[in-house]
Amino acid sequence: MKEKIKSSFDNAAKTYDSVAQVHVLSSAKLVSMLGSFNLRPKTILDIGCGTGNTSVELKKLYPHAEYTLCDISKNMINQALLKIPNAKHIVCDAEKHNFGEHYDLVVSNLAMQWFESIDEFLGNMLKKCRYFAFSTLLDRNFSDYGDLFDEWSGNYPSLQKLKNIVEKHGKLLKSSIERYDLLFESQFGAARYLKTLGAAPFPTSRNITQKLNTRRINLNYEVVCIVVRSDRDTSGVVVPRQSKICLAEVKSSCRLQVRKQHAP
Ligand SMILES: C[S@@+](CC[C@H](N)C(=O)[O-])C[C@H]1O[C@@H](n2cnc3c(N)ncnc32)[C@H](O)[C@@H]1O
Repeated sequence: MKEKIKSSFDNAAKTYDSVAQVHVLSSAKLVSMLGSFNLRPKTILDIGCGTGNTSVELKKLYPHAEYTLCDISKNMINQALLKIPNAKHIVCDAEKHNFGEHYDLVVSNLAMQWFESIDEFLGNMLKKCRYFAFSTLLDRNFSDYGDLFDEWSGNYPSLQKLKNIVEKHGKLLKSSIERYDLLFESQFGAARYLKTLGAAPFPTSRNITQKLNTRRINLNYEVVCIVVRSDRDTSGVVVPRQSKICLAEVKSSCRLQVRKQHAP
């Protein structure tokens, strides 16, 4: 499965940004949540950095930090380095890699849904950093989509399950759920979107085409953003302020709707 993930994102590295509107919005949300804390990270690690959109957004908040980009796909990292040329980088499976350094802040936007064990990964990473801010997909993600593909294997956690995992390893500081509806005129459009994004390992092109018809489809994203503090950090004075959610209209072959968010 990891090889499939790697090659799928390698193949999509140059097209990813043309369709990654949800990922850009989710990055902005994650960074806006971080902006509500008085953090002054000197070292930041971006796990599953993709083409670097989250670090680009983070740089506005923390312009002087030292950035390390990590991704399983070398082609994705190469794209990210075009945007953040001075960043350090590590091409690896983040679940298997032994990060030697300590980081003030680790971020991961919409990458951990590809991991085998978020539980194990969070446990390991929270030994290596003070703060961890991540977004991932929840169990109602793509619920309108499951009947489309034979190989649908989206096995995303419920919010409660994820919170239990987080609280096992650290202190949950803030969480927020965002819902994004991507409306496509046809299933073919949705399939093409997933391929362009690199999210192709599970719905293979063969079973997509077998089931194609002209029905409109809604890819309903359910994204949770979470900021966690390592239990080891006893120094941080954390001051929450009001944060605003950033909404945007996007130009695309599909329509993007951002549903009302609520803080769980
Ligand atoms: C949907 S993209 C998100 C990219 C970026 N964070 C963003 O917000 O645009 C998921 C990224 O996670 C990477 N990825 C998936 N599994 C990984 C793993 N085990 N270790 C490191 N990176 C991984 C993929 O290669 C891909 O670039």
